[in-house]
Amino acid sequence: MIDAMISGTGSYVPNKRMSNDELAQIVDTSDEWIFSHTGIRARHIAAEHEAASDLGVEAAKKALEDAGIEPLKIDLVLVATSTPDYNSYPSTACIIQDRLGCKNAGAMDITAACTGFVYGLETASSFVASGRAKHVLLVGTEVNSRILNWKDRNTCVLFGDAAGAVVVSVSQDKDSRVADSILRSDGSGERALLRPAGGSRKPIETGSKADDTYVTMDGRKVYLFAVDALRRTVEELMQRNSLDIEDVDWIVPHQANVRIIQACANRLGIPQEKFFLNLEEYANTSAASIPLAMDEMRKKGLLKKGNRIITVGFGAGLTYGGNYIIW
Ligand code: ACO
Repeated sequence: MIDAMISGTGSYVPNKRMSNDELAQIVDTSDEWIFSHTGIRARHIAAEHEAASDLGVEAAKKALEDAGIEPLKIDLVLVATSTPDYNSYPSTACIIQDRLGCKNAGAMDITAACTGFVYGLETASSFVASGRAKHVLLVGTEVNSRILNWKDRNTCVLFGDAAGAVVVSVSQDKDSRVADSILRSDGSGERALLRPAGGSRKPIETGSKADDTYVTMDGRKVYLFAVDALRRTVEELMQRNSLDIEDVDWIVPHQANVRIIQACANRLGIPQEKFFLNLEEYANTSAASIPLAMDEMRKKGLLKKGNRIITVGFGAGLTYGGNYIIW
């Protein structure tokens, strides 16, 4: 059997940083409330000219360089995003494929909200494991700032913009591999987290309510779902792969809210230090959050060959899932 491994990582964060105090100047909130309820201190915001593909291209260039793979060797470009350059088509993946010169690659977007990277990693690994691809470029990129209502303190304080990318390649040594994944959904939670207008159900037309084009969220419902999804995914991946918690070096969760992670750690009896967190600086960057975290961990020397990592994503859909990776 062919195994797939992550052969390179990269990330890109826009320069513009907005602290909680700065945000409190435009909406009725405070650093104290945001930090105590979420663990967030700041978020980065894309420049006016930057769309999802622009952030994604920068992250992808670094991942390709890190992997030492020429763009022409990429067989498939996958982009996980909920904030594509265009609402329907072309896909953001096609734009990134062209900008990078991945001329031999197919390209498509994956829409699984904040679980997009987890879904993408399993898709990329399956292409490699089946022999259909040798190298897949997977990018998670989001410009959440464009779909937020900056007057709604329930949502705008939570999100930020960023991109992360990985190259998934045929494993050279059989040890490093994406060993397992769980992908799940519960569409009955359709209304818990959504942008009501802009699709075929509610097209944007003259007279549309502006509020309908922004993210709406039932925060309590999403919170309860997220804690349970995180717990179940970690438990199931550990059980399926006969892992004790001592065998797991890192859990890399979707970076939504530190309280979700604390609640899950308590329920599982896992020390919180096992969970890598960087949401204090970047807030929730949706599909970009896990590859952004992975790249930061690599740069800090926290990911070593042979390390056992569990990723967990959860988000709109509702979707959730995780990957078990031997680095
Ligand atoms: N600043 C100040 N006060 C606020 C703010 C804010 N930004 N937001 C809400 N409040 C107020 C509310 O109005 C409410 O006031 P009231 O009691 O006078 O009515 C009070 O704070 C408490 O509000 P709650 O909504 O009950 O606060 P809660 O403790 O539940 O925290 C939060 C809200 C942080 C949104 C929480 O529910 C949560 O984390 N939910 C999950 C959200 C999430 O992670 N979403 C994304 C995940 S999926 C994805 O990534 C796409």
